[in-house]
Amino acid sequence: MCGIVGYVGPGSSLEVLLGGLKRLEYRGYDSAGVAVLSPEGAIGSRKRAGKLGVLVDDLSASPIADGGTGIGHTRWATHGGPTDGNAHPHFGDDGRLALIHNGIIENFAELKAELLEAGEQFESETDTEVAALLVGRAFRETGDLTEAMRRTVERLDGAFTLLALHQDAPGVVVGARRSSPLVIGLGEGENFLGSDVAAFVEHTRRAMEIGQDQIVTIRPDSVEVIDFAGNPAEASEFEVAWDASAAEKGGWPSFMKKEIDEEPDAVANTLLGRVHDGATALTELDAVADILTDIDRVLVLGCGTAAYAGLVGKYAIEAWARIPVDVELSHEFRYRDPVLNERTLVVSVSQSGETMDTLMAVRYAREQGARTLSICNTQGATIPRESDAVLYTHAGPEVAVASTKAFVAQVTALYLLGLHLASLRGTLDAEGVAAQLAELEAVPGKIRTVVDSASARIAELAHWMSDTQSVLFLGRHVGYPVALEGALKLKELAYIHAEGFAAGELKHGPIALIEPGQIVFVVVPSPRDPSSLHKKVVSNIQEIRARGARVIAIAELGDVAVVPYADEVIRIPLAAPLFEPLLAVVPLHVFGMELATAKGLDVDQPRNLAKSVTVE
Ligand code: F6R
Repeated sequence: MCGIVGYVGPGSSLEVLLGGLKRLEYRGYDSAGVAVLSPEGAIGSRKRAGKLGVLVDDLSASPIADGGTGIGHTRWATHGGPTDGNAHPHFGDDGRLALIHNGIIENFAELKAELLEAGEQFESETDTEVAALLVGRAFRETGDLTEAMRRTVERLDGAFTLLALHQDAPGVVVGARRSSPLVIGLGEGENFLGSDVAAFVEHTRRAMEIGQDQIVTIRPDSVEVIDFAGNPAEASEFEVAWDASAAEKGGWPSFMKKEIDEEPDAVANTLLGRVHDGATALTELDAVADILTDIDRVLVLGCGTAAYAGLVGKYAIEAWARIPVDVELSHEFRYRDPVLNERTLVVSVSQSGETMDTLMAVRYAREQGARTLSICNTQGATIPRESDAVLYTHAGPEVAVASTKAFVAQVTALYLLGLHLASLRGTLDAEGVAAQLAELEAVPGKIRTVVDSASARIAELAHWMSDTQSVLFLGRHVGYPVALEGALKLKELAYIHAEGFAAGELKHGPIALIEPGQIVFVVVPSPRDPSSLHKKVVSNIQEIRARGARVIAIAELGDVAVVPYADEVIRIPLAAPLFEPLLAVVPLHVFGMELATAKGLDVDQPRNLAKSVTVE
């Protein structure tokens, strides 16, 4: 939530800042602003409510002088509504200092009272302004922007990334972070700061991650990192694994459409290099290898789509590795005095690696002695950095706010983990593991078939249904999390009431919702599955059809049993039952996107949301 960019160098800082903000806009889009130093060293600033385009138009209509030092911000409002006045930057030292912020300053009310008492005036309703005024006052005392930032952050509670520039410190931008994201981009004679690497990947793929409670000072030819006590600190360098074109729309009508089209690659790239001779090759897990045979429980933590991926993982890991797996929403776990110990492997699932609820849950788990593994899509993010081990998903940058390709990549990583545990613990023999991996490696091609064959029909259905008020999703076994994911996508993209249910739960209440015309998507288990689930779900379809539901079944090729009872059947290729979620979810992603499109909505930036939820 909130995107942050900083730049020092010989180039046009506005060009860098606006380019970076465009790539970070998914982090918040209710207002945007910049502050730059002119060649003469005066601060010029512009900030506007609305999406970034409003600011860009304003700046092209009346440009500001730009001397190569600047900061930029795109906001998701927490304190104070989305107005020009509450947009960042905020100012201190009588307008000589500009500051931007991501996060929440929890003690801002006390600090504000103190600053008012000291005669300072506030222009906004934000928590951020206290930090701007405090850094400004400290700069007046010290004449040193880094020290002024250090003195300020010592006084702040909560989570924050702050960037500041001062007109008496040309060519300097100072950043600080506590539990909020900040990465450094290393250029030639220029340096960058950003909430994530997307902010600067167009200019450099050399990046550095900095730790908790650290302050970074960038100049065109230097980067210095200290901790909040003022001691020098180490920052580790890494190369960004993708280039700027991966985060471009590239002719697609939306990032979401592009990212759904990339679902086969997200799975294939997450498998790449991790399967050798029919066995898993997960050297990334070396840091927790000592406990993998001793753990008595796996606990998967995540929020939203990431938690649903975790739920698919539960079915697979339990089936293969015969170890109990619990899946919990990070925010519920953290505050309920959970029981865990050093024999629990805590697996966090997070696309961004910055979700505050999940970060706090991981920290808590570590405090309780659990070992932690992060499944994450973002290099240099905080959660992998603070975990014992990380298994990166290689879905590439996900720009649309709602997750699609990240989900299939997360599920794939959990499958790899499950098969790895199964072979270590001897619950599957080498042949069994090899057979599952061979099936898994065939999945990307099958997803491609679904994307290519089902999208047009789903789009037609979505357009017919554009005025529908409520859609239900049913699934069973691994189809249940897929139903939850289908409902979440529809809610957040098309703003339609949608619920996902376990099909077995239907008669325990939800069937009362069925009335003539109610649209119900049903994820149908494979008839080849030895369990009787297919028959049971077909019976469920008959029960809801008898009460007037319009049923759209997602069923595998050749499943003729559903045909008489479904109004529409969307076909998916045959796959082993545990891998079906990777196929069945695709039409539901397409449906959410197409229904939102039919309603004329912005599928990449749904209302009220932001990607990377960095506040609790
Ligand atoms: C839904 C969606 C969210 C995220 C959730 C966790 O489409 O995108 O539910 O899945 O906010 O985000 P990460 O994976 O970044 O921790």
